[in-house]
Amino acid sequence: MSDTDDGAALVTGASSGIGAALALEAAADGYDLLLTARREQRLRDVASEARQEYGVATTVLPQDLAAPDGVARLHDRVAETDHRVDRLVDSAGFPTYGPVAETAPERLRDQVRVNATATAELAGRIAPEMADRGAGGIVLVGSAAGYYPAPRAATYAASKAFVNFFARGLAAELEPQVTVSVVCPTAVDTEFVERGGMADSGVDDGLTHDPVDIARTTWEQHRAGERVIFPDWKDAAVCQFPRLLPHETITSFGADAFDQGTFPFLSDD
Ligand SMILES: NC(=O)c1ccc[n+]([C@@H]2O[C@H](COP(=O)([O-])OP(=O)(O)OC[C@H]3O[C@@H](n4cnc5c(N)ncnc54)[C@H](OP(=O)(O)O)[C@@H]3O)[C@@H](O)[C@H]2O)c1
Repeated sequence: MSDTDDGAALVTGASSGIGAALALEAAADGYDLLLTARREQRLRDVASEARQEYGVATTVLPQDLAAPDGVARLHDRVAETDHRVDRLVDSAGFPTYGPVAETAPERLRDQVRVNATATAELAGRIAPEMADRGAGGIVLVGSAAGYYPAPRAATYAASKAFVNFFARGLAAELEPQVTVSVVCPTAVDTEFVERGGMADSGVDDGLTHDPVDIARTTWEQHRAGERVIFPDWKDAAVCQFPRLLPHETITSFGADAFDQGTFPFLSDD
């Protein structure tokens, strides 16, 4: 706990799934928690677990990051606390499933706002504080989906491509004083599929990762200074393979991933 005195982890998407699990990893590492998402009671549940298990201080800051001023309001409320943000963990995000032409444009807009715009704006507001201090860390939750143009998940995949690549550029700007990591998992068993209206997709069949395992691996590798984190060898293969293939092939693999929950080159069949 030596480097976490007075330091807090600001965690978005902390009300469930990967974000909640990452918040508990940060708490186990001694960081006080600033937890944000929209569902306040779920944030309070995570905060309570962190206090009881790890004895850290917790603050719950409910905020809709799809609101145009959502990140600015969150940053103002963080500034009103006594905490210095030593770790920024950005896990807020949601999928949409279905053709762009059949999806409400407002939902696509909000998806880009939460998954991509808020990620850039929040990093842009917190990174200067870390750069000034010459210390800190940022963890972004990207996705294997960000390596594949995906019919029926076109906006989601593109938003995750933004996160995957934004993280690398930011890392190169801020290292070595500030560590920036992006984790790129394939499917993780969270509320993501159900809440994203993906029950009819094949992703449900391919849910392999446990969010607690993803969070543990991510936190360990982030603390070790890793820029890009692939939770296991299959994730690494899925994310590296597209470099070798034409775009048409990658796009058809992206369609398979969302329709059948697998990639042809990893299928057991
Ligand atoms: N599950 C997967 O298969 C998978 C794979 C790769 C990457 N990811 C990424 O992992 C991240 C976390 O997803 P998850 O799997 O843990 O799913 P999840 O359990 O549904 O968590 C999503 C989190 O994002 C928050 N969120 C959604 N919309 C928001 C908004 N408008 N404003 C503020 N917060 C919002 C949710 O909180 P509230 O609803 O309470 O606001 C929730 O805490 C996402 O960025 C996702 O893209 C997931």
